[in-house]
Amino acid sequence: MSVPNAIERVLLDEETIAVRVRELAAQISADYADSDGLVLVGVLKGAFIFMADLARRLQVAHHVDFIALSSYNRGTTSTGAVRLIMDTRASVAGRHVLVIEDILDTGYTLDYLVRTFRARNPASLRTCILISKPERRQVEVQVDYLGFEIPNEWVVGYGLDYADRFRTLPYIGVLKREVYK
Ligand code: IMP
Ligand code: MG
Repeated sequence: MSVPNAIERVLLDEETIAVRVRELAAQISADYADSDGLVLVGVLKGAFIFMADLARRLQVAHHVDFIALSSYNRGTTSTGAVRLIMDTRASVAGRHVLVIEDILDTGYTLDYLVRTFRARNPASLRTCILISKPERRQVEVQVDYLGFEIPNEWVVGYGLDYADRFRTLPYIGVLKREVYK
């Protein structure tokens, strides 16, 4: 597949992502083997591809649900203010909740999610994040399953976007600086 001009380089190729997703699914399947009522809560839009791949590798029964948030006003500038745009369909009370996020940057989004779900009395609450940029963290957050740590660069593909573009690239690539300056 051809790489768009706006992409500086491929950081995580399809095979690398697939191998790690399989490892995460195996670990999650083992950890939840004895628990009933697992619900995966995917954070839209960014987590939709990761969640689809991960869910299909799970060896434990589960439901899928979604939540939509916004933490950015525009471009790549974090405001720190998280807005709830769409809530889950089902109640999570008494269920084992696994929040699925694409990327952890400042941490504000995940912090908001963890606080929101904790207040709803789930049986348990864990988080599964595909990518973390540790250098950027502003608030310490709970990460139970993590795919990759990456340096502080803007990445797109495999669900991740820049201004809603590049989401469906099958790999994760670094966006050229001049594109998001
Ligand atoms: P946080 O609240 O600063 O941790 O930001 C998390 C959200 O910022 C993610 O869910 C993404 O929507 C977005 N984000 C942060 N870094 C990137 C990136 O490199 N590429 C695409 N989206 C990003
Ligand atoms: Mg996101």
